[in-house]
Amino acid sequence: MSGGGESVKVAVRVRPFNSREKERGAKVIISMDGALTKIQNPETPKEDPKSFTFDYSYWSHDNFTEDSEGNLVADPGSNYASQRIVFQDLGQGVLDNAFKGFNCSLFAYGQTGSGKSYSMVGYGPNKGIVPITCDELFKTMAAAKQEVKYQVTFSMLEIYNEQVRDLLEKVNPKGGLVVRQNPKLGLFYVVNLKSVAVGSYAEIEKRIAEGTANRTVASTNMNATSSRAHTVVTIVFDQISKNESGQETKKSSVINLVDLAGSERADSTGATGDRLKEGANINKSLSALGNVISALADLSMGKKKIMVPYRDSVLTKLLQNALGGNSKTVMIAALSPADINYDETLGTLRYADRAKKIKNKAVVNENPMDKLIRELREENDKLKKSLTGGMMPENVGMSQEDIDKMKKEMEEEIRAQLMANQKAISDMDWDQKLEQQRAEDVSENNERDLTASRKKKEPHLLNLNEDPQLSGVVCHFLGSSETTFGRKDADPQPTITLNGLSIQKKHAIVSNSDGEVEIKPGSPGAKIKVNGIPLVNSKVLENLDRILFGSNHMYVYHNPAKADVPEGTPATIDWEFAQKEIAHAKGYQTAGSGLSKEQQRVQDQILELLPMVNEVNAVSEELNKHRSFEIVLISGAAQEGKDKETEVMVKMKNLLNENTWVWGRGKFINRRYLIQELYQRFIDGEDVSDVKDNDDPFWEPAEDVLIGTAHAFLQSLGYSLDFDDNITVTDFKGTDEGKLYITIKPCTQDGKPYTDEEYVDDPSELLGKPYHIKIGVINGDVHKARYSKGLMVKYRFYEETEYTETPMLTGTLSPEWNHNRIVSIPVVTQEVLDYFETGSITYSLYGHQENTAVDTKRKNLTTKELRQLENMQEASAKPILNKKMSVSFGPNGEDETTHLKSELVLLQKQYDRLRKKERRMQDICEEWEKKPVEDQQFLPFYRKVHAVAFSSGSRLKSRVQMVNKIVKGAQESSAAAAANGNGNAAAGAGGGDTPKGKAEGSKACLVM
Ligand SMILES: Nc1ncnc2c1ncn2[C@@H]1O[C@H](COP(=O)(O)OP(=O)(O)O)[C@@H](O)[C@H]1O
Ligand SMILES: [Mg+2]
Repeated sequence: MSGGGESVKVAVRVRPFNSREKERGAKVIISMDGALTKIQNPETPKEDPKSFTFDYSYWSHDNFTEDSEGNLVADPGSNYASQRIVFQDLGQGVLDNAFKGFNCSLFAYGQTGSGKSYSMVGYGPNKGIVPITCDELFKTMAAAKQEVKYQVTFSMLEIYNEQVRDLLEKVNPKGGLVVRQNPKLGLFYVVNLKSVAVGSYAEIEKRIAEGTANRTVASTNMNATSSRAHTVVTIVFDQISKNESGQETKKSSVINLVDLAGSERADSTGATGDRLKEGANINKSLSALGNVISALADLSMGKKKIMVPYRDSVLTKLLQNALGGNSKTVMIAALSPADINYDETLGTLRYADRAKKIKNKAVVNENPMDKLIRELREENDKLKKSLTGGMMPENVGMSQEDIDKMKKEMEEEIRAQLMANQKAISDMDWDQKLEQQRAEDVSENNERDLTASRKKKEPHLLNLNEDPQLSGVVCHFLGSSETTFGRKDADPQPTITLNGLSIQKKHAIVSNSDGEVEIKPGSPGAKIKVNGIPLVNSKVLENLDRILFGSNHMYVYHNPAKADVPEGTPATIDWEFAQKEIAHAKGYQTAGSGLSKEQQRVQDQILELLPMVNEVNAVSEELNKHRSFEIVLISGAAQEGKDKETEVMVKMKNLLNENTWVWGRGKFINRRYLIQELYQRFIDGEDVSDVKDNDDPFWEPAEDVLIGTAHAFLQSLGYSLDFDDNITVTDFKGTDEGKLYITIKPCTQDGKPYTDEEYVDDPSELLGKPYHIKIGVINGDVHKARYSKGLMVKYRFYEETEYTETPMLTGTLSPEWNHNRIVSIPVVTQEVLDYFETGSITYSLYGHQENTAVDTKRKNLTTKELRQLENMQEASAKPILNKKMSVSFGPNGEDETTHLKSELVLLQKQYDRLRKKERRMQDICEEWEKKPVEDQQFLPFYRKVHAVAFSSGSRLKSRVQMVNKIVKGAQESSAAAAANGNGNAAAGAGGGDTPKGKAEGSKACLVM
C-alpha cells in the first residue's frame, strides 16, 4: 500500500427495466464499455453522452434469462453481470481483506428502485453480495487450518429520521438508541445495540430475515417511508490464534454492509417556498454523507485544512472509520436505465465519481488478547474512580444549575462507557454467548420451520410494502375459526395486533368455516378495503385478494387450498397493482400504455401522492387537526404562466372555516414528512395538541386562494373586432364558480374605440403595423358566499411577464372592478397573429381568506365527522363529477364552449359586416337602375362599387370580381342586363351564405 492510501473502489450497476418502464416504452440512456459508463441526455440525443470511469461497470440490464429455479443467468456470450460476478469482484475482496484483519465496508447508493437492495441482499434465489459473502465466510472458515479460532458476531440497525433502531429487537426505546463517542478511540458506537454470536451461515440468514421482519412491522406501524431509512449490517469477524511466542492474539475485522436511503431529492424546487424547513431530519444523514465524501475527496486531492463533518449526522458518525480511515471500502452505485430518471442517474454517477477519489489507510487490527482485556479493565477502573469524585472542572463562572447539568451528563457518559467495556469483556467469551443464544432461539427456530410448512396448507395473509424488499415478510395465519385484528389496547386482546394510523381497537374479524374465509369490520367505521373497495358488510375472500387495514397495513390473501384466482388477477400482486386498484376505486383512471409523457408523469404522481394524501388525512383525523387533503389536477391552461403542463397538486382545506390552500407536490411531500414526525411524537406519548402554529405542519397562514380560471380567446383581434362576453369561471374540477364580464377591444393609441371601418378581412393586413388593445375586466358574479371577503382578478397578455391585477373588492359577490387597460403592440408580427389565432387570456379569480371566522357549529365536530360530512355533501352535490374525477387533459368542456363562442361572435361580426356591404352595393345598384337611362353613367357607378368592395380586404374579392365583370359587361352591352345580374348575385348572397368557411360555420351552429 502506498503512502497516500488506497482509493475507495467504486462500481456502478444498471438494472433491467421494470414493468412500468417496459409498458411505457422507456428508452435506455446508459451504455457501458469495459470500465466506462456513458449516460445520454434524452433531451439532447445529438450531443455526445457523458462518460465516467469506475473500477467496475456492471451491465445487468438485458441479455439474460431466468432459469427454472428463478436465477437470472447471462445469455451465452453476453456481457450480463450476474449476482455471482458482482460477488466475485466485490464480495470476494471484502472476504479476503476480512481474513487479513482489515476493516471492510460496502455501501450501496442510488435512488429508490435503482437496485441497491438487489445488489446488497438480493431477491429470492438471486442472492446479493451480503448473503454470498457470509456464506463464503463460513465455508472458508470450515476449510481453514484448525489452529485458528473464529468468532463472528452480527448486528443490524436502521437509521430513520436520525434515530437508531435496533433491528434485532422487536421493541426499541422511544427516540431510538443513543450514539456515543468512545473517548479513547474517538469512534462512535450505538449504546446497547444487540450483537449476536453466529456460528453458521444459516444463522446469519435467519438474523437478516428477523431484522427485515422487525423493520417491516415497525415501518408499517409508524407509517415510515422505508426508502428513507439506512440499513446497516455489521459483522465483526475475529480470528484468534497463537503467535510464535505462544501468545494468544486476536485479529479483528469489522465489516459494515450499508444499504443507504434512496438518494432522490423529494423535489428540489417545490419545497423551497415552504414556510417550514425541509422535513427536518429526513435527509440529514444522506446529505451529511455527501458532504463527508466531498471533503474526503478534496483531502485526497491534496487540499489542506478541510474539516470533515462526520459529526453532522448519525450515519456519518457511525461510519467514520469506514469512510475516512481504517477501512477498505467499496461503493456500489445502482443506476436506473430509464430516460425519465436521467437527472437522478446523472446525480448518482457524479456522486460515485467523487467517492472514487477518497483514499483510506487500512491497517491490520491485531492485538494480544491479554493486552486487550487488561486495557479494558484498566480503563474501567479509571472510569469508576472518576465517578466517585474529583472529576469536575474548575468552577469557571458557571451557575449551579449548569454545573449540575454538566455533572449529570458526564456521569451518564462514564456509566455508558463502563457498560460498553464490561460488555466487551464478557463478549470475549464468544462460545458461551453463542451457546446461550442458540438455547434461546430453539423455540423461535421451530416456529420458523413450522411457518414454512403451514404456509403451504393454511389460508394466510402476507404483507405488501412499498419497498419490495419488505414485502412478503409478515405472515398471519387464518386457519382458526376466528381471527381478530386490532390494537393491542383492546380488551380482549385481538389475535393479531396492528398499530398505527386509523386502526381501531377492534378492527376486523376474519372467520374461517371449513375453508371459507370471510372478513368483516370489527367495529363500525373501521377502515378496511378489499381490492380497493371499502368494506361495509362482509366479504368471502378469494385467493390473492388485497386487503388494506387502516391506512397502511396492506396484505395479500393466500389460500393454498383454493388456489384459483378471480379473472383478471395478475400472477403476482405487487404494491403498485394494489395502489392502482385503490386509485381506480376512487375514480382515477389509469392506463398502462398509449399515454403521452405528460400523462405518464401525471399518472405516476397521482399514484405516488394518493397513499400519502390518505395517510395525512388519517393523521389529521387522529390528531383532530380539522384539515382535509385532496389531490387536484391543475391543467396547463388553468395555471399562470406559459406552456405549463398539467400539475398534480394537493389541496388542503380547513374544515372549520373552509379556507383552502393549494400546495405543489414538493411542498406537500415536505409537509407530509413533518406530519409523520409530529405523529411519531404523538405515538411516543408526547402531547402534541399544543404545537405552536409556527411549528405545525398542518397550519398555514391564510392566503388568497385561486377560486378558478376563465379563458377568453382572441381571434376577433385578428380582424380588428371587439369581443366581450360573460365567461364562466371554473375550478380545477370543472365546477362552475361564477362569471366574469370581460371586454377585449382594439382601439387607438389613446384608447378611442375603433369604428367598423378599421375592420380587416385578413389578419395579415395587420402585419407590420402598431396595434392597441383595451382589455377590460368589468364585473363578476361569484356563487359561494364565503368569497365575499375579497375578490380580485389576475391576468397576463401575450408575452407580459408581470401579472396585472384588479383591486381586491371586499364585501360583495358581484364586484364591479371596471378595470380597463390599454396594451400596445409596437409592431404586429406573425407570432402576434398566431397568438390571436390560437392563444387566449387566462383570468384567474382569487378570493381573499382570513384566519378568523370559525363556524361554531363545526367546532364541536371531530375532524373525522367533518370529513364524513364533507364527503356526503360532495357526493350529493355532484354525483357524476365525483365518479368521473378522471385524469383529463387538454381544454375541458367549458373551455371548448368559450372558444366556440368567441369564434361565433367573430363570425357573426364578419357576417354582419358583409351584409352591410352587400346592402350598400345593392343600394348603389338600385340607385343606378332607378336613374333614367341617359343618366346611367358608368364611371361614377364603378367608383362607388369599387369603394365599397375594396373597403375591406381580400375575402370579398371574388364577389368584387364578379361585380367588376358585370360592370365591364355593362360597358359593352346593355347596362340594364348587368344591373339585373348584379341584383341576383346580391340576393343570393343575402340568402344566408355563411361568410367564413363552411366547416367553421357548422361548428358554430353545433353550439347554437
Ligand atoms: N440487477 C438486477 N436484476 C434484476 N432485477 C433487479 C436488479 N436490480 C434491481 N432489480 C429489481 O428492481 C426492483 C427494485 O430494486 P431494489 O433493489 O429493491 O431497489 P432499491 O433497493 O434501490 O430501492 C426490484 O424489484 C428488483 O428485483
Ligand atoms: Mg432497497
